[in-house]
Amino acid sequence: MPSTSSASPSNSPLASPPVAETTNGFVSRHAKPKDAPAIAGLVNNWAERGLTLARSAPEVLEAIHQFVVVEDDAGLAACGSLVEWPPKIAEIRSVAVADRQQGKGAGRAVVAALVSKARSEGVEIVVLLTKSPEFFAKQGFTAIESSDLPSHYLKAAILDRGRSLEGRTAMQLVL
Ligand SMILES: CC(C)(COP(=O)(O)OP(=O)(O)OC[C@H]1O[C@@H](n2cnc3c(N)ncnc32)[C@H](O)[C@@H]1OP(=O)(O)O)[C@@H](O)C(=O)NCCC(=O)NCCS
Repeated sequence: MPSTSSASPSNSPLASPPVAETTNGFVSRHAKPKDAPAIAGLVNNWAERGLTLARSAPEVLEAIHQFVVVEDDAGLAACGSLVEWPPKIAEIRSVAVADRQQGKGAGRAVVAALVSKARSEGVEIVVLLTKSPEFFAKQGFTAIESSDLPSHYLKAAILDRGRSLEGRTAMQLVL
């Protein structure tokens, strides 16, 4: 069974204790500023293949409090971020697993940590847009019509920012 310690508010960049969730033997923790270049590397490895949106290291650093990471002996093995869209909505973004750890449970560990983080911060619905819906379905997410996404999220996070929904499945997890 995963063990979870209390998480800290997402707007506290150096918050402790870490998420410290253990899933499939992977321990996740809040990202630290020094992780930013490696996180950008993980995300951009998949952005080049069209599966994630590219993030520069400075962009990641600015949003470092949103990220959780999983480490292995070689460094950062996986990452993901939780972006809050108040009230009560948060979005999972930038879930990326290193090539060397594909299919070994690191992705599941990241999503579990992000969902724990969301719960601890009072989020009621976690949403996401993905080209990997089968993976998120296995983590309990349900596909929905993009028009059924919470309207304030759809406006602020997608329409106002010119983000495309094309080719991506909208999903949600009600906590
Ligand atoms: C999708 C991704 C995050 C999955 O991470 P992972 O560590 O390889 O996945 P896990 O080992 O934790 O798999 C958990 C479960 O999901 C399944 N799964 C993983 N990737 C899958 C996929 N692409 N399609 C269908 N099922 C998938 C696994 O078989 C496993 O199933 P099980 O519970 O029946 O054993 C990873 O492949 C990745 O980095 N992809 C590129 C980036 C991306 O697509 N990110 C998501 C968009 S934000």
